[in-house]
Amino acid sequence: MTASAFDDRQLRSDGSLRHLLSLEGLPRAALERLLDAAQALRPAALGGTALRRRLAGRSVCNLFFEASTRTRSAFHFAATRLGADVLSFDVSTSSAGKGETPVDTLRTLEAMGVDCFVVRAREDGAVAALAAAAKPQTALINAGDGRHQHPTQGLLDMLTLRQAKGDDFSRLTALIIGDVRHSRVARSDIAALRTLGCRDIRICGPASLLPDALELQGCTVGHDFDAMLDGVDALMMLRLQRERMVEGLVPSLEQYFVDYGLDEHRLARARPDAVVLHPGPMNRGVEIADTVADGSQSLILAQVSNGVAVRMAVMLELLER
Ligand code: NCD
Repeated sequence: MTASAFDDRQLRSDGSLRHLLSLEGLPRAALERLLDAAQALRPAALGGTALRRRLAGRSVCNLFFEASTRTRSAFHFAATRLGADVLSFDVSTSSAGKGETPVDTLRTLEAMGVDCFVVRAREDGAVAALAAAAKPQTALINAGDGRHQHPTQGLLDMLTLRQAKGDDFSRLTALIIGDVRHSRVARSDIAALRTLGCRDIRICGPASLLPDALELQGCTVGHDFDAMLDGVDALMMLRLQRERMVEGLVPSLEQYFVDYGLDEHRLARARPDAVVLHPGPMNRGVEIADTVADGSQSLILAQVSNGVAVRMAVMLELLER
């Protein structure tokens, strides 16, 4: 079954979320409900004990088959600040190394009473496949699967945009730059921007790093960064994902920065109040200059803070009954 066919299983018949696997096909009402909840949770998200009873007695397991700093830490803090028991399972030192399949790992931990799995996987559709194998009451959250989706990143990006630019996405011009082909973040962002009504989504990168035109329907696609900056409200940078790339897709990192790097000169061609997002980890000097990453228009650390609130909102929707 394809990844997208699995994604239909994430909603219950009453419209509430059973899993969070993809932003593709997630109704606008569900998206906005999660964003509103995250916004309300923000003051408590960064510390304190006020919300410790909300998920007391529930168990969350972080199951990361790929590296992560921000996503894994944000899920950990979100769950602990809601009072859940958290197992941050280190796959590299687990029985996965002895040949255990991910489904057997999931069932083993389910048998210990895990209510929710936060899963990052190398293969597209792998989290949906685990969701299909899980018990009916177990919730799965996709923390990034291959190139497919990274729904909580998409949500935190939308929350950050909404805080900076207001909630009328139909007035927003968003430009996504770089390695879109290998990016699950870009796929989740594009899906969310479309659902929220953004009419001007621009996609820019070298032809070798853009996906099939079919995936970018309705977006303005181009290869000349300077020519696409006029009127842009939000620049959404992406990392060059060399771990998912065959060799030779970019001539050199130096040339990539010349063609697609965001420096202060380029940023000055966007709207004066334009904001800059990057999901991290950044390759400074490859896709983004220090002056922009650390500059006054950068929302990169606001994204990180919003990441905790968004993951709290998602876990509450999935687990609080
Ligand atoms: C992203 C990821 O892993 O998909 N990072 C993140 O979760 N913040 C983006 C990336 O790796 O480039």
